[in-house]
Amino acid sequence: MKNQPVPFVDVIRQHDSIQAELEAAVLGVMRRGDYIMGQAVQEFEADFARACGVGHGVGVACGTDAIALGLQACGIGQGDEVILPANTFVATLIGVLRAGATPVLVDCEATTGLMDLAAAERAITPSTRAIVAVHLYGQMISPTMLINLASTYDLLIFEDAAQAHLAEREGYRAGSIGIGAAFSFYPSKNLGAMGDGGIFVTRDEGVAQQMRTLRNYGAPKKYFHTEVGTNSRLDTLQAAILQVKLPHLKTWNAQRNTIASSYQQALKPLIRQGISPLQNHTGNGHVYHLYLVRVVRNGEANFTCGVDRDTLIERLEARGVQVGIHYPLPCHLQPGFQFLGYRAGDFPVAEKLAGEILSLPIFPGMTAEEVDRVATALSDAIAQPADQAVDQPDERLISA
Ligand SMILES: Cc1ncc(COP(=O)(O)O)c(C=O)c1O
Repeated sequence: MKNQPVPFVDVIRQHDSIQAELEAAVLGVMRRGDYIMGQAVQEFEADFARACGVGHGVGVACGTDAIALGLQACGIGQGDEVILPANTFVATLIGVLRAGATPVLVDCEATTGLMDLAAAERAITPSTRAIVAVHLYGQMISPTMLINLASTYDLLIFEDAAQAHLAEREGYRAGSIGIGAAFSFYPSKNLGAMGDGGIFVTRDEGVAQQMRTLRNYGAPKKYFHTEVGTNSRLDTLQAAILQVKLPHLKTWNAQRNTIASSYQQALKPLIRQGISPLQNHTGNGHVYHLYLVRVVRNGEANFTCGVDRDTLIERLEARGVQVGIHYPLPCHLQPGFQFLGYRAGDFPVAEKLAGEILSLPIFPGMTAEEVDRVATALSDAIAQPADQAVDQPDERLISA
């Protein structure tokens, strides 16, 4: 391993100890032949909802559908303003638009990247119906503050928990604080399928029933269609895989926490050099889907990084460390969403963060030695004189 590159994420390593079980589960579906809405779907829906602390789970084709159809199932749509953060993966915004609602974007906190609830409060109008709370990077937004705000203004809370499986804060678990919540099982998520998948969870039996109808061509019973629904089902094979993986999720989240603590320690000396980790307000309740630092360039508290982010990324990659940016362009500046009428300067914190953030490798199975190598590479990359090149690693060794 020693001279191998450190991948940004490795979705295979976590399967090492459960490979035989996974293969048996896939083979079981193949032999049973219940490929659509099979036994594993119902079982996994119940297991996952229970893990979230709610009564109902409705599997769908992906996290984006869990948001779009989930909002619809909660009765949110045309004429409703829905508040959401500008700093999120664009699927949150797509979901709100697909539900037919009017998205109202708000800025985020500089220290966590999470939606700024004071900004959310300022954005409330008589037409506001719901707030989409995105538990970004694996850290929940404060449930108590959110519930307070929602009850003051009589708003619905919808959680985008695509990055926060089993995250906790203030005694609440992600997926349990609002009328409904959406999760993604994209392969690199904390709980990942071997393809696309998603789930909507809720406490409300009526909402769950409506969601089952919407994902199934709008039919509450066969060949009887009450809605213009769609076909968005969780694949039985994926459900069988997720069923095997779910019991291990707590352990994998704990591993992510250990890696994050090691980064926290190892990067302390770099704070003075402008490398500032995003803050964790939730202790072990943060499930670290991603581990982000800010590369601070403009002398906040006199800590300035001598290297710009792009150069730093090049230097890290030259040292065999793969990194990411989540996300380089906030939703309101994406070309496909200009029709919403936002412009540069509308959400200054999100815009500044987008220019500073850097995601370091973090995944279950990542070794302590790899964590050390990332920290050392970061320190060396900052210290590297401007024109000093580093030998390039063998491209073929870098996993996708
Ligand atoms: C915050 C957030 N919301 C929604 C989604 C959409 O999920 P999916 O890719 O499964 O459609 C993702 C992940 O991709 C996400 O990170």
